[in-house]
Amino acid sequence: MLQSAEPARMAANFRLALVQLAVGVNKAENLARAVAKVGEAARAGAQLVSLPECFNSPYGTQHFAEYSEAVPDGPSCRALAAAAREHKVYLVGGSIPEREGEKLYNTATVWCPEGQLLATHRKIHLFDIDVPGKITFTESSVLSPGNQPTTFTTPWCEVGVGICYDIRFAELGQLYRDRGCRLLIYPGAFNMTTGPAHWELLARGRAVDNQVYVATPSPARDTEAGYVAWGHSTVVNAWGEVVAKAGEGEEIVYAEVDVESVASVRAMVPTSLQRRGDIYTVVDRERLEENNRVNTSYQLGSAKVVDTVAADSLGPKTAFCRCWKSKKFPLCDGAHGKHNQACGDNLGPVIVTKAKQ
Ligand code: FES
Repeated sequence: MLQSAEPARMAANFRLALVQLAVGVNKAENLARAVAKVGEAARAGAQLVSLPECFNSPYGTQHFAEYSEAVPDGPSCRALAAAAREHKVYLVGGSIPEREGEKLYNTATVWCPEGQLLATHRKIHLFDIDVPGKITFTESSVLSPGNQPTTFTTPWCEVGVGICYDIRFAELGQLYRDRGCRLLIYPGAFNMTTGPAHWELLARGRAVDNQVYVATPSPARDTEAGYVAWGHSTVVNAWGEVVAKAGEGEEIVYAEVDVESVASVRAMVPTSLQRRGDIYTVVDRERLEENNRVNTSYQLGSAKVVDTVAADSLGPKTAFCRCWKSKKFPLCDGAHGKHNQACGDNLGPVIVTKAKQ
């Protein structure tokens, strides 16, 4: 395939839908309702649809274990994959409680119109707060945090994903912007204390400081629930204007996302070019580690990779890589000249020869 140094030009505009779902205690009903709403949004022309945080479960530490399931093989993910495929939409599956072994996570999955999993985001910042007399919540008492930022590619733009409390951390938003995102989606479930105080403020803040669209899908408000969600699913444009906003009850809000307008805002107020990297900086540690890795032919993992080679298995002449970049590592693939060009080293392989018997 012909590759270009310039990223392929992306289509300009698309229709985004946020499903402000009424979430109850019956998981099967929540799922069926979510899938029906995805269909409704698609019929109204939506090309990218997002569900809210905890769309298959009531929100609360006492519920997460009971409603948890495997990602991506559990029933909620299967339903999302089928809905994305049937309705030909990009689908952000809000979040669900995920179980992996003994651990639980608050996890968003992203599906493409063919029903394939594009990305998985585990909530990075857990919701541990104490506002005396109003709300105390300790997500970390049952959930484990995710450890990775998450972006995915659509035909229109790169999209960054956070979950609820993640929106309070400006550095994550900046990292997404630096990775080329023009839209950030934060499925969330703010409450009756934090909602009126900060829900819209944070969405507008992240939009203005990164000059991106920001979308915040919420569950509908249910005053009978143990945890009462604020509602008001919102889309903010790159200029910081609210372009779509739901009320409190179940509804779908739509926004035309004008991807080119992001570039105009950035051209008019070029803050990213005016940053003072000599005074402060946000470091994308994942990218930094990728760039610094010596041997990228191995996956990153916790286990140390050791190769033991039996002398008997060697041919009469075996070349072992010493530049640490061979695709056939630990064997030399002959490409050390190219590998070494960038760093100026002059390392070739170690050649082991066997004495003739
Ligand atoms: Fe690394 Fe040959 S590829 S030394």
